[in-house]
Amino acid sequence: PKGDPAKAKAKVEQICAACHGVDGNSAASANPSLAGQHPEYLEAQLVAFKKGTRKSAIMQPQAATLSDEDIRNLSAYFAEQKPKERAGTNKALMETGKKLYRGGVQARGIPACMACHGPSGSGIPAQYPRLGGQHAAYTVAQLNAFKLGKERANLPMQQIAQKLSDDEMKAVAEYIAGL
Ligand code: HEM
Ligand code: HEM
Repeated sequence: PKGDPAKAKAKVEQICAACHGVDGNSAASANPSLAGQHPEYLEAQLVAFKKGTRKSAIMQPQAATLSDEDIRNLSAYFAEQKPKERAGTNKALMETGKKLYRGGVQARGIPACMACHGPSGSGIPAQYPRLGGQHAAYTVAQLNAFKLGKERANLPMQQIAQKLSDDEMKAVAEYIAGL
């Protein structure tokens, strides 16, 4: 069944807004923006936190209190919020990040991020999450989580993150923030 955004409003205001913003655009760079994200991806992440297959000391207890219906409604709510335009700030990093995002590094078997996350960072509904406009600090943290494989497991992303250096992660995250 499809989620009903109107039914999510009370929980959003009481719980999620403090960290993710009432319109899904978060202020603090450790908290991901959720606005405009595909509802299927949001649902999958909330279920993963609830089951403990994605680990976060902050989000696991939040997700534990949500019913399947809450998860559908909250995901529908954040999916229909409008993502705020953001700009990357570091021009040199953005240039390096752009090359990686759009072309990968063939010689090291790193695919173009664009292949799955789209040329404009909007991902592919029901398959690949939107990344555009996300806080760079959050993106770097997730790339490291995939690389280490303790908090987050996902086959393509683990294989890719294991090949990225710290500098490459920072650069691609800066570019993504401005997409
Ligand atoms: C991550 C939803 C409440 C802090 C996430 C993600 C979702 C989500 C879907 C994953 C985003 C992604 O993968 O791009 C919600 C909902 C909430 C809620 C629906 C309300 C019921 C909170 C609260 C806090 C918080 C109250 C702060 C106390 C975070 C943080 C992450 C996160 C820090 C990143 C976790 C990580 O490092 O993997 N949240 N959230 N959230 N949320 Fe929430
Ligand atoms: C998730 C970055 C390439 C498939 C993510 C996330 C980030 C990311 C930051 C987490 C999003 C969030 O938490 O909101 C990148 C970068 C890439 C890249 C920087 C290039 C260097 C790819 C490629 C594929 C892919 C080529 C497909 C083959 C996925 C999938 C997820 C994901 C399936 C969701 C994982 C999950 O459900 O936990 N990516 N990505 N990515 N990416 Fe990528």
